[in-house]
Amino acid sequence: MPNRTPFVGGNWKMNTDARTASELASSLASGLAGTAGVDVAIFPPFVYLREIGSGIETSDIILGAQDVYDQPNGAFTGEISIDMLKDCGVRSVLTGHSERRHVIGESDTIVNKKTRAVLDAGLQCVLCIGETLDQRESGKTDAINEHQTRAGLEGVSKEQLANVVIAYEPVWAIGTGKTATPGDAQDAHANIRELIANMYDQEAADAIRIIYGGSMKPGNAEELMSMADIDGGLVGGASLNAEDFLSIIRAGAPQGV
Ligand code: PGA
Repeated sequence: MPNRTPFVGGNWKMNTDARTASELASSLASGLAGTAGVDVAIFPPFVYLREIGSGIETSDIILGAQDVYDQPNGAFTGEISIDMLKDCGVRSVLTGHSERRHVIGESDTIVNKKTRAVLDAGLQCVLCIGETLDQRESGKTDAINEHQTRAGLEGVSKEQLANVVIAYEPVWAIGTGKTATPGDAQDAHANIRELIANMYDQEAADAIRIIYGGSMKPGNAEELMSMADIDGGLVGGASLNAEDFLSIIRAGAPQGV
């Protein structure tokens, strides 16, 4: 049985302010006792990264960024480079989040460039994929997941794949209160894992963490994460409340501590 460390990430999106961001981070850092065996990451807004990074320095929380630009520097007004993120203590970066794809308009090519830049810099990449409601209703879930996984990982070596977490986030479940049933999510995850075995090999497929996102909350996290191929969660709304996020992390802990 492959032994994968669960990964639970909190995607704060464009929420919090300087005070509430610091308070949330420090409540998490102090509340994390008893959740050994889970990799925990938070993805605050860019402007709070540095301060939050120093606030959680003594904890095991991984500091993550919600986005990055793929070029190292230059005339790219408004963009943030990987080195800038590293300066703030960032160790993990989201790519391909559905809001970047569908609200901001990022293409598969852009997602791939960002993914490769993150991995080339030696950081962890959480590559997000998932189908829209229309795509689900027309039976295209697995095809979309395959397309976005292949496109996102184009040019990524097996060695680099060790630094990738795949987040399966059905777009219709994000921020809507609707969650995929554990069985449907498990099916999608198992198919993504099989795809990784085809693209790389069985060892890579057994090792990669595939996490679920889309209205994960304390009431459904344990059941979702108990599925064989669901290795954790990417949590939006519920990660803005320390108690809720901590209880999701506890639900993902190996012995349910
Ligand atoms: P949600 O967001 O938990 O609010 O649905 C998840 C995500 O977008 O990562």
